[in-house]
Amino acid sequence: MNQEQFIPKSYLKTIEKGSVTWQSPSNIALVKYWGKYGEQLPANPSISFTLTNCRTITELKFWKKETASNTFDFEVYFEGKLSEDFKPKIETFFKRVEKHLPFSKDYKFKIHTQNTFPHSSGIASSASGMSALALCLVDLERLCLLERSREVSLSKEYFNQKASFLARLGSGSACRSIEGDLVVWGEHSEITESSNLFGIKYPFQVHENFKNYQDTILLVDKGEKQVSSSVGHNLMHDHPFSEERFKQANENLSKLIPVLKEGNLSEFIKIVESEALTLHAMMMSSMPYFILMKPNTLEIINKIWSYRNETNSNICFTLDAGANVHVLYPEKEKETVLEFIQDELVAFCQNKQYICDQIGFGAKKV
Ligand code: PMV
Repeated sequence: MNQEQFIPKSYLKTIEKGSVTWQSPSNIALVKYWGKYGEQLPANPSISFTLTNCRTITELKFWKKETASNTFDFEVYFEGKLSEDFKPKIETFFKRVEKHLPFSKDYKFKIHTQNTFPHSSGIASSASGMSALALCLVDLERLCLLERSREVSLSKEYFNQKASFLARLGSGSACRSIEGDLVVWGEHSEITESSNLFGIKYPFQVHENFKNYQDTILLVDKGEKQVSSSVGHNLMHDHPFSEERFKQANENLSKLIPVLKEGNLSEFIKIVESEALTLHAMMMSSMPYFILMKPNTLEIINKIWSYRNETNSNICFTLDAGANVHVLYPEKEKETVLEFIQDELVAFCQNKQYICDQIGFGAKKV
């Protein structure tokens, strides 16, 4: 998919008014994206589990403007209340997607959005939020195309690719939230269909062991992020270890291919935990430097390691750019691991809060 493949404005007919609603999940990377260039292009390929329960639901209401104007006209409502906080990020998003959605200045928009996970839980809502909005906009494009001719419709492949392409322009990792259950984003030599422009469904065989894989998210610190991910990505430009890191991410993705096929959980754990710690090591060794883990993050990691040694469980952890811990484990260990989490890990969470989630299959129209 590139600019030439997008639908020209002359193929679309503006609809007077209407609304579309999409729900889109968050995702958790196994091989992390950290470092970008150009227009939100990843410095290395990444792969993630799409989640199920952590979702954003967005309704896009649209009206044709009575008089043309050269501005993006939109209001954002978060959980029913008019919100100014999200406006700058969405304005930037509209500017970036304008050339791919040439009708975007013809409408006035009201964006009503809500999350299924607690507000300011420290869980990034940018992946689910930006993908939900991108889906609403591609759906509007689909409706405009249908309005012009009932004979023409967008293929599901085009629809998903374009939604992922646009979501990427809102927040890189958001492009991995359109589909499930495993999504790859970024060119990788062994995955010929992979692209820097959008996420694709992982194209190879995945062992039963990873079916319904569990992710319990431990909310260690619900505070504001110390460093935004854009600042973090940019710090990889002059980072002393960046080239090695980008190489390592490519290698880790190569190593994951047979691991996913064979259901090799012990190798899976090594790759996933090393990726999480490397992501944080990159932040600790950039200039300026950051420590995004909290003492309780380390307490939890140590408890997970002891439990694994004592029980031979296949439990492991991963982290995103914050202090919360994603605890990953196979479905067949659900009961025992949940008991361990409740008995030993929940004490390290802020207000004892955690979210039970599992691998999922992508966004849905509501
Ligand atoms: O999508 P962004 O720009 O917020 O970057 C997110 C990067 C990580 O969550 C840390 C890793 C990843 O691949 O999701």
